[in-house]
Amino acid sequence: MIITICGGGSTFTAGIVKSIALRREELEVDEIRLFDIFKERQDKVAVIVDWILHEELKCDIKLTVTTDPETAYTDASFIFAQMRVGGYAMREQDEKIPLRHGCVGQETCGTGGMAYGMRTIFPMMKMIDDAEKYAKKDYWILNYSNPASIVSEACRRLRPNARIINICDMPIAIIDVVAAAMNIKDKENIVYDYFGLNHFGWFTSITYKGEDLMPRLREYIMEHKILLPDAYLKDKAALGVSANKEKGTEGNRHTKGSWYYVWKGVYEIMANFPDMLPNTYLNYYLQQKEFVEHSNPDHTRANEVMETREKNLFDGVDTYLATGKVDEKVFYAGSHGDWIADLAIALKNDTKARFLIITENRGTIPNMPYDAMVEVPAYIGKNGPEVISRDPIPLFQQGLMMQQLNSEKLLVEGCIEGSYEKVLQAFTLNKTVPSMTVAKEILDDMIEANKDFWPELK
Ligand code: NAD
Ligand code: G6P
Ligand code: MN
Repeated sequence: MIITICGGGSTFTAGIVKSIALRREELEVDEIRLFDIFKERQDKVAVIVDWILHEELKCDIKLTVTTDPETAYTDASFIFAQMRVGGYAMREQDEKIPLRHGCVGQETCGTGGMAYGMRTIFPMMKMIDDAEKYAKKDYWILNYSNPASIVSEACRRLRPNARIINICDMPIAIIDVVAAAMNIKDKENIVYDYFGLNHFGWFTSITYKGEDLMPRLREYIMEHKILLPDAYLKDKAALGVSANKEKGTEGNRHTKGSWYYVWKGVYEIMANFPDMLPNTYLNYYLQQKEFVEHSNPDHTRANEVMETREKNLFDGVDTYLATGKVDEKVFYAGSHGDWIADLAIALKNDTKARFLIITENRGTIPNMPYDAMVEVPAYIGKNGPEVISRDPIPLFQQGLMMQQLNSEKLLVEGCIEGSYEKVLQAFTLNKTVPSMTVAKEILDDMIEANKDFWPELK
């Protein structure tokens, strides 16, 4: 059984490999392959992957590291995808260009997310074609590559028969934080219901061993004026680095640096709309103005990540090579890797476990279009997801989702057709953009910044 990681040079590779290796019996995995287009970066990450597999966990899983698609995908059963097209340098542009025009600049939301989407659509199609050509006929691609919403819409349009499941780790990261806030140690006993688009959804219920947690959670959030538990907030003064050392909290990157504001935003949103627990990403659409006000247009999340997660990883590899010593903390593991590895187990072993996935609506949410890519719960078995259908959603959420959905659909269409007008419509329609004129100014700057990546727009 072969698992290939596409984007082997990612800051998440080591953590994902560890999650796979810890589940080696259920997965019956013989070989892990790393594939990337950036050889030097991947070779460094491979040093620590090799250490995890063969020193730390002493597994007999073979490791192959390659930049050749045929070597990467031949007979692979699973492909875990996590490519960042354009790297952090382009993420920085996605975040900073909109901010220069007074708009939300974010990795996956608003115009920044759309720029990232336009870079990612065609490399993702290439990866799917490689999988179709070389992998096992019943391969599964489990995709984390962002922006997952736009990527999944592009897959639906361009490769409708591909065996791909698009996923996101934010809802489970929120559940991790909810468990910590509610003092729950066995988070596997938390069951939740959720609907939305990717990075644009709501928890409608959260229960723990039969108890409805929502009243307690609502009270907690109103009292603390933030969703983050105190343990994460010890070092409030150093907000920029949120360096809490308490055991169990240091690995949660979602609580670091500027992430703070979206957990505050959960309070602000729920103070007005208390029924559902919003995904942290809704903050970018419901508090656009406030986001711009507290952002530093010269230092965004991309800079934070380059200065912390990315730097710590590559410094950690250098330290290991020089001294033989490994500081495990710098190789992020945890829920992100567990979620994708557990999903592979459900597919392979037909467990029918429940996961949130991004999938074509097909009536699941009755008052959303048939062909919307929605994020909803599903039971996962060897034939793929069995989605759980639900009642119509309220008008507020439906209205927000329709605007976002049509913006993303226009973006994908515009990208495929090379249509400037459709991409401008996508930008203009997005809730993070106040006017058509601003949309055009951002788009024109982005065309310039993305000229090595985007298709030509006419
Ligand atoms: P990173 O830049 O460290 O890693 C991405 C890797 O992808 C790099 O090594 C890069 O060289 C490689 N790459 C770029 N283009 C490629 C291509 N065409 N084919 C193969 N490899 C390619 O980034 P990161 O911060 O570790 O994030 C990795 C990806 O995972 C990003 O897309 C990020 O948005 C995504 N992510 C998604 C979720 C989710 O919830 N869906 C969660 C975390 C991260
Ligand atoms: C969450 C989201 C991902 C996103 C990531 C960014 O995990 O679900 O889709 O890529 O956050 O985290 P970062 O630490 O890179 O800002
Ligand atoms: Mn996500």
